[in-house]
Amino acid sequence: MGKEIILSGMRPTGKLHLGHLSVLENWAKLQKDNENYYMIADWHTLTTGFNDTAMIQNNIRDMALDYMAAGIDPETSAIFIQSRVKEHAELHLLLSMVTPLSWLERVPTYKDQIAQFGKEGKDISMYGFLGYPLLMAADILVYRATAVPVGEDQLPHLEFTRELVRRFNHLYDCQVFPEPKALLAKIKLLPGTDNRKMSKSYGNDIPLDADDQLILQRVGQMVTDPARIKKTDLGHPDVCTVYTYHTFYNKDEAADIEERCKAGTIGCVACKKRLARKLSEFMAPIRERRQALSGNPKRLDEILNAGCEKARIAAKETLAKTREAMKI
Ligand code: TRP
Ligand code: SF4
Repeated sequence: MGKEIILSGMRPTGKLHLGHLSVLENWAKLQKDNENYYMIADWHTLTTGFNDTAMIQNNIRDMALDYMAAGIDPETSAIFIQSRVKEHAELHLLLSMVTPLSWLERVPTYKDQIAQFGKEGKDISMYGFLGYPLLMAADILVYRATAVPVGEDQLPHLEFTRELVRRFNHLYDCQVFPEPKALLAKIKLLPGTDNRKMSKSYGNDIPLDADDQLILQRVGQMVTDPARIKKTDLGHPDVCTVYTYHTFYNKDEAADIEERCKAGTIGCVACKKRLARKLSEFMAPIRERRQALSGNPKRLDEILNAGCEKARIAAKETLAKTREAMKI
């Protein structure tokens, strides 16, 4: 891979947890040798959460801390807030003039999400929600990003962006925008403590800032092999969440634990203790990095200001080229 311009982001909906970590670690890896922009997509939260904005400012700061705790380096990458770089909005508007309505309506998440929220009695069929993929396209194109690390669920949005690039460059007979490619990392999904998808709303998550006590409590609530009552019962690690976690965070001992569980020579309490110890070791530096910054709000402001400024400089250049191509 040659030098890429990389952009990605997340919606600030609350503190991040261990399930998000592999995504952030992948972003952190991409910092080497590339030009990186990591965004906190606060405008995107409004597309579904327009009536529930009380926590946004807190969530933005938490997200910035989580990014850095996970290894995003503000010296190398621009860590910035979408709504503070107004060029995203200008590009969104300009692109909206050439975006066929039908393209937006056929993005799979559009009808799905409206139906999903509808079931909960919430109407999100707003102009802004329809434009979700276009705002995302503007986020990417405003940096003329060449590569976007995203999860599989975002692929239709990336395809939409690429189609829009072809249309724009053709309409205005220019090469302002490159077609961004998706970087799909092979990320193994870490389940929550109850073996469902990890989510704060399920109470099955391990927050990135968890202390030893919370780790112990969360490991304590993990579901184990239900067929095992006594230590001597032969276990099935393949159906045990604790074992799954050992394969992530205690690779050296996982094979031994598997064998002893199957043979009935290790008890679940001891097994969980071992995991909690390993997780504590693993999470301590993440928590410490986070704490160092959360205790220094001025420094955090400086970092975000610098990130927004760096992003703005690149974005302004793109807007100049876009206006020139459109003669506006
Ligand atoms: N839609 C993305 C998500 O929900 C967040 C996002 C907004 C994003 N703009 C982006 C991701 C641009 C990548 C590039 O996860
Ligand atoms: Fe799970 Fe460990 Fe108990 Fe086996 S011994 S069922 S791997 S917690």
